[in-house]
Amino acid sequence: MEAAEPERATVCVTGAGGFLASWLVKLLLSTGRYAVRGTVRDPGVGKNAHITALEGAGERLRLVKADMLDYRSVASAVDGCQGVLHVASHVPSGKSSNPEADVIAPAVTGTLNVLKACHEAKVKRVVVFLLCSIIPTGLKARPSLRTAGQMRKREAFAYAAKTGLDVITVCPALVIGPLMQSTVNTSAKVFLGYIKGGEHSISTRDQETVQNGPKHLVDVRDVADALLLVYENPQASGRYLCNSTAIRVSDIVNILKTSYPSSYTYPQNFVEVEGSYTYNTEKLRNLGWASRPMEETLRDSFECYQALGIPN
Ligand SMILES: NC(=O)c1ccc[n+]([C@@H]2O[C@H](COP(=O)([O-])OP(=O)(O)OC[C@H]3O[C@@H](n4cnc5c(N)ncnc54)[C@H](OP(=O)(O)O)[C@@H]3O)[C@@H](O)[C@H]2O)c1
Repeated sequence: MEAAEPERATVCVTGAGGFLASWLVKLLLSTGRYAVRGTVRDPGVGKNAHITALEGAGERLRLVKADMLDYRSVASAVDGCQGVLHVASHVPSGKSSNPEADVIAPAVTGTLNVLKACHEAKVKRVVVFLLCSIIPTGLKARPSLRTAGQMRKREAFAYAAKTGLDVITVCPALVIGPLMQSTVNTSAKVFLGYIKGGEHSISTRDQETVQNGPKHLVDVRDVADALLLVYENPQASGRYLCNSTAIRVSDIVNILKTSYPSSYTYPQNFVEVEGSYTYNTEKLRNLGWASRPMEETLRDSFECYQALGIPN
């Protein structure tokens, strides 16, 4: 007689095909403890092949079509789920001429739709992933993203206070790491800017000289661990900052230059700029979270970019 399949909790991951969410889906499937419902806007096979091919996906991953701005589709996606890990949000790749309409409003509306749907579906816990509202001075986040992050956090906790919904937020700075999806996401482009000059160069005439402020980075695989950790820990509550130790651009360049000397025209000169090294992740570390060494993150990211033909 065949052994009965264990009873598994169903968790929903929004934006399942995105950079971070793909790693989260992979982690959830690898535990064997969950049936995963992933929301996507485009259920086309090609775009999501990197998650439907994951081990365990055939039996335990179901993709459903949902747009976070369409309440009915969100409500249908979370119905019957014990937990929701809300990652989907519009991340613009360039500057918007109307950030209020293009970035902030959709981000807040999407989060409120998810929370309302979770409350109505009696979801036990919702983890919202968002850009940190306390961004040290060393990180140049676009103001619209920062505002969207702040407003999503404020609205999320206000909604939780009003309804009793169990809401936790996880806030990283810049997430990097190997890409599972075939497209290059915004944070990978920002990171590549650090080592290729461009917008970080001190002037358009001198592309070889870059600002040497501290950068707050975290590995995408460590962020996925953090999201699962706070989701599963009954004692977890409130907001968790999620970051590894800050690193200067010159140190990033030196690590990569040592391992991959001919891959890039690396910046040659560095102009010191002030920035904060503090980003208190003690609350998350007290739950048992640890981040891998930054050298490993940089090398794994870089090798993935090279395999995809991204550098230079
Ligand atoms: N990467 C970072 O450094 C970083 C740092 C802090 C916070 N975050 C936050 O983390 C989230 C994901 O970031 P990421 O780097 O993984 O970006 P990503 O690869 O661009 O993923 C974004 C995901 O959100 C989905 N999405 C966008 N608008 C949507 C909508 N209206 N309805 C449903 N799905 C929608 C996208 O789906 P489509 O494929 O259909 O477009 C995609 O799956 C964002 O909320 C971002 O603000 C990222």
